[in-house]
Amino acid sequence: SEKNSSSLEPREQWGTRLGFMLAAAGSAIGLGNIWRFPFVVGEGGGAAFVLIYLGFVLLIGLPLLIGEISIGRKGQANAMDSYKAIQPRTKWYLNGFIGILISFMILSFYSVVSGWAFYYFIQALTGQLIAPNRDYGSTFGGFITDPIMPIVFQVLLMTIVVIIVMGGVKKGIEKWNNILMPTLFLLLIVLVVRSLSLENAHIGLSFFLKPDFSVIDSTIILAALGQAFFSLSLASGLYVTYGSYINKKNSIPANAGGIVFLDLLVAIMAGLIIFPAVFHYGIDPGRGPDLVFVTFPTIFTDMPFGALFAVLFFFFIFVAALTSAISLLEVVVAFIKEKFHLSRKIAAPITGAIITVVGMFCALSFGSLSHVTLFDRTIFDILDFLTAEILLPFAGLILSIFLGWIWKPAGVREEVEKEGNSLPLYSIWSFLIRYVIPVVILIVFIDSLGII
Ligand code: PHE
Repeated sequence: SEKNSSSLEPREQWGTRLGFMLAAAGSAIGLGNIWRFPFVVGEGGGAAFVLIYLGFVLLIGLPLLIGEISIGRKGQANAMDSYKAIQPRTKWYLNGFIGILISFMILSFYSVVSGWAFYYFIQALTGQLIAPNRDYGSTFGGFITDPIMPIVFQVLLMTIVVIIVMGGVKKGIEKWNNILMPTLFLLLIVLVVRSLSLENAHIGLSFFLKPDFSVIDSTIILAALGQAFFSLSLASGLYVTYGSYINKKNSIPANAGGIVFLDLLVAIMAGLIIFPAVFHYGIDPGRGPDLVFVTFPTIFTDMPFGALFAVLFFFFIFVAALTSAISLLEVVVAFIKEKFHLSRKIAAPITGAIITVVGMFCALSFGSLSHVTLFDRTIFDILDFLTAEILLPFAGLILSIFLGWIWKPAGVREEVEKEGNSLPLYSIWSFLIRYVIPVVILIVFIDSLGII
């Protein structure tokens, strides 16, 4: 149906008002909440990290989200050309281009972890995952260091992602999000109840909820900032891209509020599941990226109908990862198809294939390429650190300057307030965008470089 993005054809749009909201929440909610959040909280020493993260989400994330969606809806183009449409003949579009690059880089390692989740789902489904007295640490270690299996599942996962993105905005992305997202919540609620009823749940709860600020240093603050950006999919070009498919009747602030709320909710629920279990079973909360792949099977082994819950749960992680991976690919595909006048059906597989190949190096960095390091970090670690903690906050800094000083709050407001919508707390929002956000991001950066 769709050949290229020539101006004769109307831009694709979400089918319903909820379509954007569910797809954007589907992007935000993902491995960042269920896999990354628990392990960075564990490494960051617990509740104090969580509070700082919460502050960043509300004071930086929410205001920027409103602005980033507005760029897309105003610009009506991919993440880069939307900036161009708003500020022609300037170089601000480079920030959109950075976002596209970031999405490319994130998907290359994200597809690896999504592949792990996919594999665990299949293992659980075929009854091979849960077994009494199993050492889940070495099970997982054995799997990710294998040269073949992680790549097989990464490729399978990427194939599904490509097929859905080829289907387009309404029939692909929106349809799948509508089916997949609502099922996730129910499952999480059951698991929260289970975890909270474990003996000594309070020890895990106080690690997660009772702040001890003596553990905080500049590295941890930067990690909290990075997690806020990563988890919200902020400054990655995602909101510009998805925002370009919404119509003017949609209230941008209401959508942004909903996305932030749902994203936080899932992260908090993941914490409420993980930490009581971690302390109950004597797992080290700071053990790193394998935390959830070890903790969850342990919970299921020791739980009535555990094998069934394992299937449901890993299906859930797989789905959450899938909807985020779709969004990451869409950012790049929207750009490629509009830049090179390709159809979606051509742009998606080509882009997906290139990302998958880069991603294979990330997959191998747990095994045969584990000796390839820079500053003690493997290829996987470098991509994760560089995107989450450096590039996303940097693109967020530029985004706030663009919104606050170039397009200007009044310009954003005009777009937001189309069709009778309003931008609540406009003066506070504008103050945050112009002063607070850029200054805070700069301070966190400078602080963690050790200059202050
Ligand atoms: N927010 C997603 C998650 O938490 C990851 C993501 C980052 C997706 C940036 C899109 C863009 O899993």
